[in-house]
Amino acid sequence: MTEFKYADQTEVKAAMLMNASDANIFGNVHGGHVMKWVDEIAYACAARYCAGVAVTAAVDRIDFHEPIHVGELLHITARVVCVGRTSMEIEIALHAEDIPTGTTRHTNTCHFTFVALENVQTPRPRPVPKLICRTRDDKARFIQAKMRRERGMEYRKERDAFLKQFETLSDSELDTLLAEATV
Ligand SMILES: CC(C)(COP(=O)(O)OP(=O)(O)OC[C@H]1O[C@@H](n2cnc3c(N)ncnc32)[C@H](O)[C@@H]1OP(=O)(O)O)[C@@H](O)C(=O)NCCC(=O)NCCS
Repeated sequence: MTEFKYADQTEVKAAMLMNASDANIFGNVHGGHVMKWVDEIAYACAARYCAGVAVTAAVDRIDFHEPIHVGELLHITARVVCVGRTSMEIEIALHAEDIPTGTTRHTNTCHFTFVALENVQTPRPRPVPKLICRTRDDKARFIQAKMRRERGMEYRKERDAFLKQFETLSDSELDTLLAEATV
């Protein structure tokens, strides 16, 4: 396995023409289609980085800032922004281009976590190369990814502790927790 890779050499890019068959009932591009394309390009980026197979472990969140219109050219750019021992966080940026004017709008940025596996038959996590950040932007992305990673780990720890406790909670204890959670 390669020991390390440079963050600025991990980009995978795709451009897709938005067709009428991609539209939702409002006539704009269906968000579910966008999520599928994003997952596919992010997968290509992760699989290329670890030179093997990987699975989607988590999606941080997807904010749809603006609709994407039929007829636009959708540019999808994926890059590795942070890695752990076996996991890789991929940032995916989407820009919609109005072809006649060449005007481009940023419509989404989201973050997917993939875990490298030994192989398809043996779905055991496998170490990935270290990520070297050389540019200021890559360094900033890595630091922010680290924040998301720590927040995600903290959330999963709290969730698992709650679910364990849930088994033995009385109805009144559950109602007290619900009241605390209700704003
Ligand atoms: C993802 C998966 C391989 C993790 O397996 P696991 O036995 O929990 O592995 P580990 O606990 O050893 O964790 C391995 C890595 O995954 C990361 N990880 C596990 N669950 C995660 C989650 N929900 N979010 C982010 N990272 C996660 C861990 O932090 C660890 O990262 P690191 O090695 O870089 O520190 C396993 O849960 C799986 O196969 N899930 C199904 C994936 C799938 O089918 N995806 C497609 C969905 S349609």
